[in-house]
Amino acid sequence: MLVIIRVTDGARDMKTVTTALAALAAIVATDPADAQDRLKRGEYLANIMDCGGCHTPGVFLGKPDQERYLAGSEVGFQIPGLGIFYPPNLTSDQETGLGSWSEAEIITAVRTGVRPDGRELAPAMPWRAYAALNDADAQALARYLKA
Ligand code: HEC
Repeated sequence: MLVIIRVTDGARDMKTVTTALAALAAIVATDPADAQDRLKRGEYLANIMDCGGCHTPGVFLGKPDQERYLAGSEVGFQIPGLGIFYPPNLTSDQETGLGSWSEAEIITAVRTGVRPDGRELAPAMPWRAYAALNDADAQALARYLKA
């Protein structure tokens, strides 16, 4: 996106220019093309980080239910001494998914393994590997999951 601000005679004082720049920043921040790119980036990351490879029903039975992509697995990971951990629903469902989680809470869980209630996620969820995710990518991923 290319925007040219022409400072005309009437707008020579700094205040007008600052106001124009603030308005521009707001436009850029809400640019729908940009938001679309971020969603695409989030989708791409979810794919290559293989969230669906654990969090999609049927995936461990050799029949991933793509209609219910990321809706949670019925097969869990048993970790000796810790219990069985089922990859939960990551869709935006309010009751069983991440609908009530903020983007910041999703980012914290993915990068540090800490849920909003403070519980640490079992190591079957590869959050230690995801700790290296940069801020922009973490935000794109969280936004995609909430969308
Ligand atoms: C190797 C399997 C695996 C992969 C790959 C994986 N997860 Fe998980 N994830 C799990 C398991 C198992 C849990 C449950 C752990 C627990 O309850 O302690 C979990 C839990 C979570 C939670 C906490 C949800 C809740 O309701 O408590 C979030 C958020 C999450 N995963 C997001 C992701 C995202 C996003 C990706 C991809 C970037 C991903 N996971 C990839 C296995 C996986």
